[in-house]
Amino acid sequence: MDRRPPALELRGVSKQYGPVTALSSVDLRLERHEVLGLIGENGAGKSTLISVINGTVSPSEGQLLAGGNIVSPGSPADAARAGIATVFQEQGLVASLPVFENILLGREAGFSRGGVLSRKAMARFAADVLNELGIAIDPFAITGSLAFGERQLVEIAKAFALGRIYPVEPVILLDEPTSALSDAETQILFNSIRRWRGKASIILVSHRLSDVFAVCDRVAALKDGTVNGTWPVSEVTADTLHEAIVGRPRSAGYYKESEQREDFGEIVLEVRDLVVPGQIEGVSLTVRAGEILGVAGVLGSGKTALGHAITGAVAGKGEIAVDGRRLRPGSRAAALAADVGSVPAERNSAGVIGMHSVEWNLTLPSLKSFRRGRWPVLSAKKQAGVTDDWIRRLRVRTPNRAIQIRNLSGGNAQKVVFAKWLARGIRLFVLDDPGRGLDVGAKEEIYALLRKLAREGVAIVLISDNLPEIIGLSNRILTLRAGKISAELAAPAHDKPAETAVVTHMV
Ligand SMILES: Nc1ncnc2c1ncn2[C@@H]1O[C@H](COP(=O)(O)OP(=O)(O)OP(=O)(O)O)[C@@H](O)[C@H]1O
Ligand SMILES: [Mg+2]
Repeated sequence: MDRRPPALELRGVSKQYGPVTALSSVDLRLERHEVLGLIGENGAGKSTLISVINGTVSPSEGQLLAGGNIVSPGSPADAARAGIATVFQEQGLVASLPVFENILLGREAGFSRGGVLSRKAMARFAADVLNELGIAIDPFAITGSLAFGERQLVEIAKAFALGRIYPVEPVILLDEPTSALSDAETQILFNSIRRWRGKASIILVSHRLSDVFAVCDRVAALKDGTVNGTWPVSEVTADTLHEAIVGRPRSAGYYKESEQREDFGEIVLEVRDLVVPGQIEGVSLTVRAGEILGVAGVLGSGKTALGHAITGAVAGKGEIAVDGRRLRPGSRAAALAADVGSVPAERNSAGVIGMHSVEWNLTLPSLKSFRRGRWPVLSAKKQAGVTDDWIRRLRVRTPNRAIQIRNLSGGNAQKVVFAKWLARGIRLFVLDDPGRGLDVGAKEEIYALLRKLAREGVAIVLISDNLPEIIGLSNRILTLRAGKISAELAAPAHDKPAETAVVTHMV
Protein backbone atom coordinates (compact mmCIF):
# COMPACT_ATOMS: atom_id res chain seq x y z
CA MET A 1 0.00 0.00 0.00
CA ASP A 2 1.12 3.52 -0.78
CA ARG A 3 1.78 5.18 2.55
CA ARG A 4 2.86 8.47 1.12
CA PRO A 5 0.73 11.45 2.13
CA PRO A 6 -1.94 12.80 -0.20
CA ALA A 7 -0.92 15.21 -2.96
CA LEU A 8 -2.90 17.98 -1.26
CA GLU A 9 -4.75 18.36 1.96
CA LEU A 10 -6.88 21.35 2.95
CA ARG A 11 -7.67 21.68 6.64
CA GLY A 12 -10.41 24.03 7.77
CA VAL A 13 -9.83 26.53 4.98
CA SER A 14 -12.02 29.65 5.09
CA LYS A 15 -11.96 32.84 3.06
CA GLN A 16 -13.83 36.05 3.78
CA TYR A 17 -14.09 38.97 1.37
CA GLY A 18 -15.51 41.62 3.64
CA PRO A 19 -19.05 40.46 4.30
CA VAL A 20 -18.82 37.68 1.67
CA THR A 21 -17.91 34.18 2.84
CA ALA A 22 -16.36 32.58 -0.21
CA LEU A 23 -15.11 29.47 1.64
CA SER A 24 -16.11 28.14 5.01
CA SER A 25 -14.09 25.45 6.86
CA VAL A 26 -13.23 23.37 3.82
CA ASP A 27 -11.58 20.01 4.46
CA LEU A 28 -10.54 18.27 1.28
CA ARG A 29 -7.94 15.74 0.17
CA LEU A 30 -6.50 15.20 -3.27
CA GLU A 31 -4.98 11.72 -3.32
CA ARG A 32 -1.79 11.09 -5.25
CA HIS A 33 -2.44 10.47 -8.97
CA GLU A 34 -6.09 11.17 -8.57
CA VAL A 35 -8.23 13.26 -10.93
CA LEU A 36 -10.70 15.07 -8.70
CA GLY A 37 -13.68 16.86 -10.24
CA LEU A 38 -14.83 20.03 -8.47
CA ILE A 39 -18.37 21.16 -9.20
CA GLY A 40 -20.82 23.69 -7.78
CA GLU A 41 -23.01 26.69 -8.55
CA ASN A 42 -21.72 30.00 -9.87
CA GLY A 43 -20.20 31.70 -6.85
CA ALA A 44 -19.94 28.50 -4.78
CA GLY A 45 -16.24 29.14 -4.18
CA LYS A 46 -14.49 26.87 -6.71
CA SER A 47 -12.11 29.47 -8.14
CA THR A 48 -11.40 30.80 -4.66
CA LEU A 49 -10.42 27.30 -3.56
CA ILE A 50 -8.11 26.95 -6.57
CA SER A 51 -6.54 30.34 -5.76
CA VAL A 52 -5.94 29.39 -2.14
CA ILE A 53 -4.17 26.23 -3.29
CA ASN A 54 -1.94 28.05 -5.79
CA GLY A 55 -1.14 30.83 -3.37
CA THR A 56 -2.70 33.74 -5.24
CA VAL A 57 -5.23 34.16 -2.42
CA SER A 58 -4.43 33.95 1.30
CA PRO A 59 -7.02 32.05 3.30
CA SER A 60 -8.54 33.82 6.29
CA GLU A 61 -8.16 30.57 8.22
CA GLY A 62 -6.90 27.05 7.73
CA GLN A 63 -3.94 25.19 6.30
CA LEU A 64 -2.76 23.70 3.07
CA LEU A 65 -0.40 20.74 2.90
CA ALA A 66 1.25 19.47 -0.27
CA GLY A 67 2.80 16.02 -0.04
CA GLY A 68 2.49 16.26 3.74
CA ASN A 69 4.35 19.59 3.99
CA ILE A 70 2.76 22.85 4.96
CA VAL A 71 2.70 25.36 2.08
CA SER A 72 3.03 28.99 3.18
CA PRO A 73 -0.31 30.65 2.67
CA GLY A 74 -0.56 33.27 -0.04
CA SER A 75 2.78 32.43 -1.62
CA PRO A 76 2.57 31.55 -5.31
CA ALA A 77 6.33 30.87 -5.32
CA ASP A 78 6.03 28.31 -2.51
CA ALA A 79 3.08 26.69 -4.27
CA ALA A 80 5.06 26.50 -7.53
CA ARG A 81 7.97 24.85 -5.71
CA ALA A 82 5.50 22.27 -4.44
CA GLY A 83 4.71 21.52 -8.09
CA ILE A 84 1.34 23.27 -8.13
CA ALA A 85 0.43 24.67 -11.55
CA THR A 86 -2.80 26.33 -12.61
CA VAL A 87 -4.87 26.88 -15.71
CA PHE A 88 -6.94 29.91 -14.82
CA GLN A 89 -10.56 30.52 -15.67
CA GLU A 90 -9.57 33.86 -17.22
CA GLN A 91 -6.74 33.64 -19.67
CA GLY A 92 -3.46 35.05 -18.47
CA LEU A 93 -1.29 34.85 -21.57
CA VAL A 94 0.68 37.74 -23.04
CA ALA A 95 -0.77 38.26 -26.52
CA SER A 96 2.33 39.83 -28.05
CA LEU A 97 4.69 36.98 -27.15
CA PRO A 98 5.30 33.80 -29.11
CA VAL A 99 3.71 30.66 -27.74
CA PHE A 100 6.94 29.15 -26.38
CA GLU A 101 7.71 32.24 -24.28
CA ASN A 102 4.24 32.13 -22.74
CA ILE A 103 4.67 28.47 -21.91
CA LEU A 104 7.87 29.28 -20.02
CA LEU A 105 6.90 32.69 -18.67
CA GLY A 106 8.50 33.20 -15.27
CA ARG A 107 10.49 29.97 -15.63
CA GLU A 108 13.16 31.32 -17.98
CA ALA A 109 15.89 30.98 -15.35
CA GLY A 110 16.30 27.29 -16.11
CA PHE A 111 17.20 28.11 -19.69
CA SER A 112 20.09 30.47 -19.18
CA ARG A 113 23.63 29.30 -19.78
CA GLY A 114 26.27 31.55 -18.24
CA GLY A 115 23.74 34.35 -17.93
CA VAL A 116 22.63 34.12 -21.54
CA LEU A 117 19.06 33.09 -22.17
CA SER A 118 18.83 30.34 -24.75
CA ARG A 119 15.67 31.04 -26.67
CA LYS A 120 16.48 28.05 -28.80
CA ALA A 121 16.46 25.71 -25.81
CA MET A 122 13.24 27.30 -24.59
CA ALA A 123 11.55 26.80 -27.94
CA ARG A 124 12.73 23.21 -28.13
CA PHE A 125 11.42 22.49 -24.65
CA ALA A 126 8.04 24.08 -25.42
CA ALA A 127 7.79 22.17 -28.69
CA ASP A 128 8.40 18.94 -26.74
CA VAL A 129 5.65 19.73 -24.27
CA LEU A 130 3.16 20.60 -27.02
CA ASN A 131 4.12 17.42 -28.82
CA GLU A 132 3.70 15.26 -25.77
CA LEU A 133 0.23 16.72 -25.21
CA GLY A 134 -0.71 16.21 -28.85
CA ILE A 135 -1.31 19.93 -29.39
CA ALA A 136 -0.65 21.01 -32.98
CA ILE A 137 0.30 24.63 -32.38
CA ASP A 138 3.46 26.29 -33.71
CA PRO A 139 5.62 27.30 -30.71
CA PHE A 140 6.77 30.37 -32.64
CA ALA A 141 3.25 31.63 -33.43
CA ILE A 142 2.34 34.95 -31.80
CA THR A 143 -0.09 34.04 -29.05
CA GLY A 144 -2.53 36.83 -29.88
CA SER A 145 -3.02 35.48 -33.39
CA LEU A 146 -4.39 32.16 -32.12
CA ALA A 147 -8.08 31.33 -31.77
CA PHE A 148 -9.55 31.46 -28.28
CA GLY A 149 -9.62 27.69 -27.88
CA GLU A 150 -6.02 27.38 -29.06
CA ARG A 151 -4.91 29.93 -26.47
CA GLN A 152 -6.62 27.81 -23.85
CA LEU A 153 -4.55 24.83 -24.99
CA VAL A 154 -1.41 26.97 -24.59
CA GLU A 155 -2.47 27.71 -20.99
CA ILE A 156 -2.81 24.01 -20.43
CA ALA A 157 0.62 23.29 -21.94
CA LYS A 158 2.04 25.95 -19.63
CA ALA A 159 0.69 24.16 -16.57
CA PHE A 160 1.92 20.77 -17.73
CA ALA A 161 5.35 22.26 -18.52
CA LEU A 162 5.82 23.15 -14.87
CA GLY A 163 5.62 19.48 -14.04
CA ARG A 164 8.74 18.94 -16.13
CA ILE A 165 10.69 21.84 -14.67
CA TYR A 166 10.39 21.18 -10.95
CA PRO A 167 11.66 17.86 -9.66
CA VAL A 168 8.35 17.10 -7.94
CA GLU A 169 5.23 15.37 -9.13
CA PRO A 170 2.96 18.09 -10.46
CA VAL A 171 -0.39 19.02 -9.02
CA ILE A 172 -2.37 20.54 -11.86
CA LEU A 173 -5.35 22.76 -11.18
CA LEU A 174 -7.69 23.29 -14.12
CA ASP A 175 -10.37 25.94 -13.58
CA GLU A 176 -13.08 25.40 -16.20
CA PRO A 177 -10.67 24.54 -19.00
CA THR A 178 -13.34 22.99 -21.20
CA SER A 179 -15.73 25.93 -21.24
CA ALA A 180 -13.49 27.63 -23.81
CA LEU A 181 -12.72 24.50 -25.81
CA SER A 182 -14.46 22.90 -28.76
CA ASP A 183 -15.32 19.22 -28.59
CA ALA A 184 -12.18 18.27 -30.51
CA GLU A 185 -9.98 20.38 -28.23
CA THR A 186 -11.67 18.94 -25.16
CA GLN A 187 -10.67 15.49 -26.39
CA ILE A 188 -7.04 16.65 -26.70
CA LEU A 189 -7.15 17.85 -23.10
CA PHE A 190 -8.76 14.65 -21.84
CA ASN A 191 -6.21 12.52 -23.64
CA SER A 192 -3.45 14.57 -22.02
CA ILE A 193 -5.03 14.05 -18.63
CA ARG A 194 -5.24 10.31 -19.24
CA ARG A 195 -1.63 10.23 -20.40
CA TRP A 196 -0.58 12.02 -17.20
CA ARG A 197 -2.42 9.61 -14.93
CA GLY A 198 0.13 8.08 -12.62
CA LYS A 199 2.45 11.07 -13.02
CA ALA A 200 0.35 13.95 -11.72
CA SER A 201 -2.55 14.72 -9.41
CA ILE A 202 -5.25 16.85 -10.90
CA ILE A 203 -8.23 18.98 -9.85
CA LEU A 204 -10.66 19.76 -12.65
CA VAL A 205 -13.31 22.43 -12.13
CA SER A 206 -16.21 22.11 -14.56
CA HIS A 207 -19.85 22.94 -15.07
CA ARG A 208 -20.17 20.02 -17.46
CA LEU A 209 -21.07 16.82 -15.70
CA SER A 210 -19.99 14.96 -18.84
CA ASP A 211 -16.39 16.13 -18.12
CA VAL A 212 -16.58 14.62 -14.65
CA PHE A 213 -17.77 11.29 -16.01
CA ALA A 214 -15.19 11.32 -18.81
CA VAL A 215 -11.96 11.76 -16.82
CA CYS A 216 -12.46 12.08 -13.06
CA ASP A 217 -11.94 9.40 -10.42
CA ARG A 218 -13.75 11.25 -7.68
CA VAL A 219 -15.91 14.35 -7.53
CA ALA A 220 -16.50 16.94 -4.81
CA ALA A 221 -19.39 19.42 -4.79
CA LEU A 222 -19.12 22.87 -3.25
CA LYS A 223 -22.20 24.73 -2.09
CA ASP A 224 -22.03 28.18 -0.52
CA GLY A 225 -18.36 27.74 0.28
CA THR A 226 -18.59 24.34 1.96
CA VAL A 227 -18.07 20.81 0.71
CA ASN A 228 -21.51 19.39 0.09
CA GLY A 229 -20.33 15.85 -0.61
CA THR A 230 -17.71 13.74 -2.38
CA TRP A 231 -18.33 10.61 -4.41
CA PRO A 232 -16.32 8.10 -6.41
CA VAL A 233 -17.40 8.83 -9.99
CA SER A 234 -18.15 5.16 -10.64
CA GLU A 235 -20.77 5.24 -7.89
CA VAL A 236 -22.64 8.46 -8.60
CA THR A 237 -25.31 9.49 -11.10
CA ALA A 238 -25.74 12.77 -12.99
CA ASP A 239 -29.01 13.36 -11.17
CA THR A 240 -27.34 13.15 -7.77
CA LEU A 241 -24.65 15.62 -8.84
CA HIS A 242 -27.23 17.95 -10.36
CA GLU A 243 -29.10 18.02 -7.11
CA ALA A 244 -25.89 18.56 -5.10
CA ILE A 245 -25.10 21.62 -7.24
CA VAL A 246 -28.48 23.28 -7.58
CA GLY A 247 -30.22 21.98 -4.48
CA ARG A 248 -33.21 20.63 -6.39
CA PRO A 249 -33.74 17.79 -8.87
CA ARG A 250 -33.26 18.38 -12.57
CA SER A 251 -36.55 19.37 -14.17
CA ALA A 252 -37.82 17.65 -17.28
CA GLY A 253 -37.80 19.85 -20.38
CA TYR A 254 -34.48 21.54 -19.68
CA TYR A 255 -34.72 23.38 -22.99
CA LYS A 256 -38.38 24.35 -22.52
CA GLU A 257 -39.43 22.76 -25.80
CA SER A 258 -43.07 23.12 -24.79
CA GLU A 259 -42.62 26.89 -24.89
CA GLN A 260 -41.09 26.88 -28.36
CA ARG A 261 -42.89 29.14 -30.84
CA GLU A 262 -43.64 27.64 -34.22
CA ASP A 263 -45.04 30.77 -35.90
CA PHE A 264 -42.89 33.81 -36.55
CA GLY A 265 -43.25 37.46 -37.42
CA GLU A 266 -41.53 39.58 -40.04
CA ILE A 267 -37.93 39.15 -41.17
CA VAL A 268 -35.60 40.83 -38.68
CA LEU A 269 -32.16 39.77 -39.88
CA GLU A 270 -31.15 39.31 -43.45
CA VAL A 271 -27.62 38.31 -44.40
CA ARG A 272 -26.78 38.15 -48.09
CA ASP A 273 -23.58 36.78 -49.66
CA LEU A 274 -21.48 37.48 -46.60
CA VAL A 275 -17.76 37.00 -47.05
CA VAL A 276 -15.14 37.36 -44.32
CA PRO A 277 -11.81 36.54 -45.95
CA GLY A 278 -10.41 33.24 -44.73
CA GLN A 279 -13.44 32.51 -42.57
CA ILE A 280 -16.77 32.90 -44.36
CA GLU A 281 -17.20 32.31 -48.04
CA GLY A 282 -20.65 33.41 -49.06
CA VAL A 283 -23.34 32.91 -46.43
CA SER A 284 -26.97 34.02 -46.82
CA LEU A 285 -29.66 33.60 -44.20
CA THR A 286 -32.74 35.20 -42.66
CA VAL A 287 -34.15 35.14 -39.14
CA ARG A 288 -37.69 36.20 -38.28
CA ALA A 289 -39.13 37.83 -35.19
CA GLY A 290 -39.64 35.16 -32.54
CA GLU A 291 -37.41 32.64 -34.26
CA ILE A 292 -34.33 30.97 -32.78
CA LEU A 293 -31.83 30.07 -35.49
CA GLY A 294 -29.13 27.65 -34.34
CA VAL A 295 -25.71 27.74 -36.01
CA ALA A 296 -23.52 24.66 -35.58
CA GLY A 297 -20.05 23.91 -36.91
CA VAL A 298 -16.64 22.71 -35.84
CA LEU A 299 -13.77 25.04 -34.95
CA GLY A 300 -12.77 26.94 -38.10
CA SER A 301 -16.19 26.47 -39.74
CA GLY A 302 -16.75 30.22 -39.55
CA LYS A 303 -19.54 30.20 -36.99
CA THR A 304 -17.85 32.61 -34.57
CA ALA A 305 -16.89 34.91 -37.45
CA LEU A 306 -20.54 34.94 -38.53
CA GLY A 307 -21.53 36.27 -35.11
CA HIS A 308 -18.73 38.83 -35.25
CA ALA A 309 -19.85 40.07 -38.67
CA ILE A 310 -23.50 40.44 -37.64
CA THR A 311 -22.63 42.37 -34.48
CA GLY A 312 -20.11 44.61 -36.26
CA ALA A 313 -17.04 43.23 -34.51
CA VAL A 314 -15.51 42.43 -37.91
CA ALA A 315 -16.21 43.93 -41.31
CA GLY A 316 -17.39 41.50 -43.95
CA LYS A 317 -18.27 41.94 -47.60
CA GLY A 318 -21.87 41.44 -48.62
CA GLU A 319 -25.02 42.70 -46.99
CA ILE A 320 -26.34 42.55 -43.43
CA ALA A 321 -29.69 44.20 -42.76
CA VAL A 322 -31.79 44.47 -39.60
CA ASP A 323 -35.44 45.39 -40.04
CA GLY A 324 -34.68 46.20 -43.66
CA ARG A 325 -31.93 48.69 -42.88
CA ARG A 326 -28.43 47.87 -44.03
CA LEU A 327 -25.78 47.93 -41.32
CA ARG A 328 -22.43 49.54 -41.94
CA PRO A 329 -19.91 46.66 -42.04
CA GLY A 330 -17.62 46.42 -39.03
CA SER A 331 -19.46 49.03 -37.00
CA ARG A 332 -20.51 48.05 -33.51
CA ALA A 333 -22.20 51.41 -33.19
CA ALA A 334 -24.39 50.69 -36.20
CA ALA A 335 -25.35 47.30 -34.78
CA LEU A 336 -26.18 48.90 -31.45
CA ALA A 337 -28.29 51.58 -33.13
CA ALA A 338 -30.23 48.76 -34.83
CA ASP A 339 -30.84 47.17 -31.40
CA VAL A 340 -28.55 44.20 -31.90
CA GLY A 341 -27.40 42.66 -28.61
CA SER A 342 -24.58 40.16 -28.31
CA VAL A 343 -23.06 37.68 -25.92
CA PRO A 344 -19.66 37.10 -27.52
CA ALA A 345 -17.47 34.02 -27.14
CA GLU A 346 -14.63 36.19 -25.79
CA ARG A 347 -16.65 37.18 -22.78
CA ASN A 348 -13.97 38.55 -20.56
CA SER A 349 -12.45 40.81 -23.16
CA ALA A 350 -15.58 41.82 -25.07
CA GLY A 351 -18.45 41.28 -22.66
CA VAL A 352 -17.64 43.25 -19.52
CA ILE A 353 -15.09 45.74 -18.22
CA GLY A 354 -13.71 44.31 -14.99
CA MET A 355 -12.66 47.58 -13.36
CA HIS A 356 -16.13 49.01 -13.62
CA SER A 357 -19.04 48.30 -11.35
CA VAL A 358 -21.82 45.83 -11.90
CA GLU A 359 -24.17 48.78 -12.36
CA TRP A 360 -21.93 50.49 -14.93
CA ASN A 361 -21.58 47.32 -16.99
CA LEU A 362 -25.24 46.43 -16.76
CA THR A 363 -26.65 49.80 -17.77
CA LEU A 364 -24.02 50.84 -20.33
CA PRO A 365 -25.99 49.92 -23.49
CA SER A 366 -29.17 51.53 -22.17
CA LEU A 367 -27.77 54.82 -20.87
CA LYS A 368 -29.98 56.82 -23.23
CA SER A 369 -33.10 55.61 -21.49
CA PHE A 370 -31.92 57.02 -18.17
CA ARG A 371 -31.94 60.62 -19.36
CA ARG A 372 -34.13 62.98 -17.39
CA GLY A 373 -36.52 64.57 -19.84
CA ARG A 374 -34.65 66.40 -22.56
CA TRP A 375 -31.62 66.97 -20.39
CA PRO A 376 -28.64 64.71 -20.63
CA VAL A 377 -28.69 64.14 -16.88
CA LEU A 378 -28.85 60.54 -15.87
CA SER A 379 -31.44 59.46 -13.40
CA ALA A 380 -29.18 57.71 -10.92
CA LYS A 381 -32.10 56.39 -8.97
CA LYS A 382 -33.69 54.77 -12.00
CA GLN A 383 -30.38 53.29 -13.08
CA ALA A 384 -29.85 51.79 -9.64
CA GLY A 385 -33.39 50.42 -9.60
CA VAL A 386 -32.99 48.71 -12.97
CA THR A 387 -29.67 47.20 -11.88
CA ASP A 388 -31.08 45.83 -8.64
CA ASP A 389 -34.04 44.43 -10.49
CA TRP A 390 -31.85 42.43 -12.87
CA ILE A 391 -29.52 41.28 -10.10
CA ARG A 392 -32.61 39.83 -8.45
CA ARG A 393 -34.17 38.36 -11.60
CA LEU A 394 -31.03 36.57 -12.74
CA ARG A 395 -29.91 35.79 -9.19
CA VAL A 396 -26.54 37.44 -9.74
CA ARG A 397 -24.52 36.65 -6.65
CA THR A 398 -23.02 40.00 -5.66
CA PRO A 399 -22.94 41.91 -2.36
CA ASN A 400 -24.21 45.07 -4.12
CA ARG A 401 -24.41 46.86 -7.47
CA ALA A 402 -21.34 49.05 -6.86
CA ILE A 403 -18.77 46.29 -6.63
CA GLN A 404 -16.19 45.98 -9.44
CA ILE A 405 -17.28 43.24 -11.77
CA ARG A 406 -13.89 41.52 -11.59
CA ASN A 407 -14.79 40.55 -8.01
CA LEU A 408 -17.72 38.49 -9.22
CA SER A 409 -17.32 34.81 -9.97
CA GLY A 410 -16.99 33.97 -13.69
CA GLY A 411 -20.53 32.74 -14.07
CA ASN A 412 -22.02 35.68 -12.24
CA ALA A 413 -20.13 38.16 -14.42
CA GLN A 414 -21.64 36.34 -17.36
CA LYS A 415 -25.13 36.80 -16.06
CA VAL A 416 -24.42 40.55 -16.12
CA VAL A 417 -23.56 40.30 -19.83
CA PHE A 418 -27.02 38.87 -20.39
CA ALA A 419 -28.70 41.37 -18.12
CA LYS A 420 -27.25 44.39 -19.88
CA TRP A 421 -29.08 43.44 -23.07
CA LEU A 422 -32.25 42.33 -21.38
CA ALA A 423 -32.38 45.65 -19.53
CA ARG A 424 -32.05 47.58 -22.75
CA GLY A 425 -34.54 45.87 -24.97
CA ILE A 426 -33.28 44.46 -28.28
CA ARG A 427 -34.51 43.37 -31.69
CA LEU A 428 -31.88 40.78 -32.49
CA PHE A 429 -29.81 38.76 -30.01
CA VAL A 430 -26.61 37.08 -31.22
CA LEU A 431 -25.22 34.57 -28.75
CA ASP A 432 -22.00 32.61 -29.05
CA ASP A 433 -22.01 29.71 -26.62
CA PRO A 434 -24.39 31.32 -24.10
CA GLY A 435 -24.19 28.47 -21.59
CA ARG A 436 -20.44 28.75 -21.15
CA GLY A 437 -19.40 28.99 -17.53
CA LEU A 438 -22.94 28.93 -16.20
CA ASP A 439 -23.92 26.33 -13.64
CA VAL A 440 -26.67 23.91 -14.59
CA GLY A 441 -29.32 25.88 -12.71
CA ALA A 442 -28.31 29.23 -14.21
CA LYS A 443 -28.32 27.70 -17.68
CA GLU A 444 -31.88 26.62 -17.20
CA GLU A 445 -32.83 30.18 -16.20
CA ILE A 446 -31.11 31.62 -19.26
CA TYR A 447 -32.87 29.15 -21.55
CA ALA A 448 -36.21 30.19 -20.10
CA LEU A 449 -35.29 33.84 -20.71
CA LEU A 450 -34.43 33.13 -24.35
CA ARG A 451 -37.85 31.52 -24.78
CA LYS A 452 -39.44 34.60 -23.27
CA LEU A 453 -37.51 36.95 -25.57
CA ALA A 454 -38.64 34.88 -28.56
CA ARG A 455 -42.24 35.13 -27.41
CA GLU A 456 -41.81 38.89 -27.24
CA GLY A 457 -40.68 38.93 -30.87
CA VAL A 458 -36.89 39.13 -30.55
CA ALA A 459 -35.00 37.28 -33.31
CA ILE A 460 -32.23 35.08 -31.95
CA VAL A 461 -29.07 33.68 -33.53
CA LEU A 462 -27.68 30.94 -31.32
CA ILE A 463 -24.13 29.88 -32.15
CA SER A 464 -22.92 26.97 -30.06
CA ASP A 465 -20.68 23.94 -29.74
CA ASN A 466 -23.16 22.31 -27.46
CA LEU A 467 -25.33 20.19 -29.74
CA PRO A 468 -28.05 19.26 -27.23
CA GLU A 469 -28.43 22.98 -26.48
CA ILE A 470 -28.65 23.97 -30.16
CA ILE A 471 -31.09 21.19 -30.98
CA GLY A 472 -33.18 21.75 -27.87
CA LEU A 473 -33.53 25.52 -28.25
CA SER A 474 -33.59 26.22 -31.99
CA ASN A 475 -36.47 26.32 -34.45
CA ARG A 476 -34.08 25.79 -37.32
CA ILE A 477 -30.42 24.78 -37.49
CA LEU A 478 -27.80 25.80 -40.03
CA THR A 479 -24.60 23.82 -40.14
CA LEU A 480 -21.46 25.55 -41.37
CA ARG A 481 -18.52 23.78 -42.94
CA ALA A 482 -15.41 25.58 -44.17
CA GLY A 483 -17.18 28.94 -44.27
CA LYS A 484 -20.27 27.78 -46.14
CA ILE A 485 -23.72 26.56 -45.14
CA SER A 486 -23.65 22.80 -45.53
CA ALA A 487 -27.23 22.05 -44.44
CA GLU A 488 -30.39 23.51 -43.01
CA LEU A 489 -32.45 21.36 -40.64
CA ALA A 490 -35.90 22.04 -39.24
CA ALA A 491 -36.14 21.53 -35.46
CA PRO A 492 -39.78 21.90 -34.43
CA ALA A 493 -40.57 21.10 -30.80
CA HIS A 494 -42.30 17.82 -31.63
CA ASP A 495 -39.66 16.55 -34.05
CA LYS A 496 -36.11 17.43 -33.00
CA PRO A 497 -33.29 16.11 -35.21
CA ALA A 498 -30.85 13.60 -33.69
CA GLU A 499 -27.33 14.77 -32.84
CA THR A 500 -25.88 12.47 -35.47
CA ALA A 501 -28.09 14.10 -38.13
CA VAL A 502 -26.48 17.45 -37.29
CA VAL A 503 -22.91 16.17 -36.92
CA THR A 504 -22.99 14.56 -40.37
CA HIS A 505 -23.15 18.01 -41.95
CA MET A 506 -20.46 19.51 -39.73
CA VAL A 507 -17.55 17.22 -40.62
N1 LIG B 1 -11.72 39.57 -4.87
C1 LIG B 1 -12.98 39.37 -4.43
N2 LIG B 1 -13.61 40.33 -3.74
C2 LIG B 1 -14.87 40.15 -3.28
N3 LIG B 1 -15.58 39.02 -3.45
C3 LIG B 1 -15.00 38.02 -4.13
C4 LIG B 1 -13.68 38.15 -4.67
N4 LIG B 1 -13.38 36.99 -5.31
C5 LIG B 1 -14.46 36.19 -5.18
N5 LIG B 1 -15.43 36.81 -4.47
C6 LIG B 1 -16.74 36.22 -4.14
O1 LIG B 1 -16.55 34.94 -3.58
C7 LIG B 1 -17.59 34.05 -3.99
C8 LIG B 1 -17.00 32.81 -4.62
O2 LIG B 1 -16.46 33.15 -5.89
P1 LIG B 1 -15.71 32.09 -6.83
O3 LIG B 1 -15.12 32.87 -7.93
O4 LIG B 1 -14.81 31.25 -6.01
O5 LIG B 1 -16.94 31.20 -7.36
P2 LIG B 1 -16.93 29.99 -8.41
O6 LIG B 1 -17.44 28.80 -7.69
O7 LIG B 1 -15.60 29.88 -9.06
O8 LIG B 1 -18.05 30.46 -9.45
P3 LIG B 1 -18.13 30.33 -11.08
O9 LIG B 1 -18.69 28.99 -11.36
O10 LIG B 1 -19.12 31.39 -11.46
O11 LIG B 1 -16.78 30.57 -11.63
C9 LIG B 1 -18.48 34.86 -4.92
O12 LIG B 1 -19.59 35.32 -4.19
C10 LIG B 1 -17.61 36.02 -5.35
O13 LIG B 1 -18.37 37.16 -5.65
MG1 LIG C 1 -14.93 30.22 -10.98
